[in-house]
Amino acid sequence: MKYVFPSSFLWGTATSAYQVEGNNNKSDMWAEEYSEGSPYRDYSGDAVDHYNRYKQDIELMASLGLNSYRFSIEWSRIEPEQGVYSQKELDHYRDVIKTCYDNNITPVVTMMHFTSPQWLMKIGGWKNPETADLFAKYCEVVFKEFGQDIPYVLTMNEVNLPVMLKELFINMNFMPPVGMDAKSWTAPGWRESAAAKCGTTIDLYFTFHMASDEESLEIVKDAHCKAREVMKKINPSTKVGLSLALPEIQAIEGGEELAAKVWHDYFGQFKSIIEGDDFIGVQNYTREVYGPEGQVPLAEGTEVTAMGYEYYPEALARTIRNVAKELNIPVLVTEHGIATNDDSRRVEFIQRGLKGLHSCLGDGIQVLGYLYWSTFDNYEWTFGYDPHFGIIGLNRETQERFVKESGRVLGEISKNNAVYYEPEKLLNLYRSEFEI
Ligand code: BGC
Repeated sequence: MKYVFPSSFLWGTATSAYQVEGNNNKSDMWAEEYSEGSPYRDYSGDAVDHYNRYKQDIELMASLGLNSYRFSIEWSRIEPEQGVYSQKELDHYRDVIKTCYDNNITPVVTMMHFTSPQWLMKIGGWKNPETADLFAKYCEVVFKEFGQDIPYVLTMNEVNLPVMLKELFINMNFMPPVGMDAKSWTAPGWRESAAAKCGTTIDLYFTFHMASDEESLEIVKDAHCKAREVMKKINPSTKVGLSLALPEIQAIEGGEELAAKVWHDYFGQFKSIIEGDDFIGVQNYTREVYGPEGQVPLAEGTEVTAMGYEYYPEALARTIRNVAKELNIPVLVTEHGIATNDDSRRVEFIQRGLKGLHSCLGDGIQVLGYLYWSTFDNYEWTFGYDPHFGIIGLNRETQERFVKESGRVLGEISKNNAVYYEPEKLLNLYRSEFEI
């Protein structure tokens, strides 16, 4: 069986600057890594040295057959001190984008993927309303330089993640889809130390991940709208959006109300700002099921990924459908991924995810592309280098890259613009559950 995709479909992978570049030592996360009692299991250090190796890396992506690459620009590199912009770093990212075009790769750029400059923490971070303007100013500086070369931009990655992290405090059994270790997350000591490393005090230290109360959420929303306005003004043809971490939310009997509340917290409350966007970035890893008592724990024997999430690739299509029911703008899958050391599980995860995605297209939902998380086995925040999400693995001592089978499969899918299935295997995988 063959599922063909639209000719303009974007096929690629995604990274974030902090997780791959290495040595982002002006960023707040760097201070967190080096704080006393830090919850980060490893130092990011050179990461996968993508800052120096982007040319070979982008060539490698192109050689696989991929036609798109999502990466982020590190705010703390562009503006290492408040109001001081680095021409060298602007030129660096200009060249990353040029390298994409030289390799027939469409760049999808994220302006902020969780990390903020350390100086922002001296003035109250994401609880200072001025941060919205400061973020928009940074976007303006970047767009004046090379906005005309950016066809798709996400202002911020997963603006709802702080809300999910708050849930973590409420329900400690729950692990949101980003590497945060529950116990260490609640310990305040290391935050004091991180604040000191940013040259500030705990009362002013307020990172993006902490923006979950109403007031700071308003600042995040304001930052998105202001950045969108400024970037559109400079280059009206750039498609602007943001991304949300969206597990599929399901309910069993008696859990409907709770599931609806969770969906509102994760998605509904952001709709008003997204409605003015050109597209929405959907990032899906699994599902969450709610019952009358709260989130339903996984049944014994359920297959889980290395992050402890249920292995459930069908959640992608179901989430796209849930989003499309409520928003009338195109969807771009900006992340869909799995941490595993068994690459064959990744191959299946991608194929099953794409089969569902294809059925969404068949039903008239506009999906612009599929960007798998992640290009490399990279720095998974507090979890360090242990979880392996990449379609490209590497030896971190030599930084030598090796393409996994999943990388070849995704590349072939991209080249053919189609997914193939063997019918017997398909029957096994989908049983009665999935229809096309
Ligand atoms: C984030 C990534 C992270 C990935 C896997 C997403 O929520 O955007 O930074 O590495 O999930 O946990």
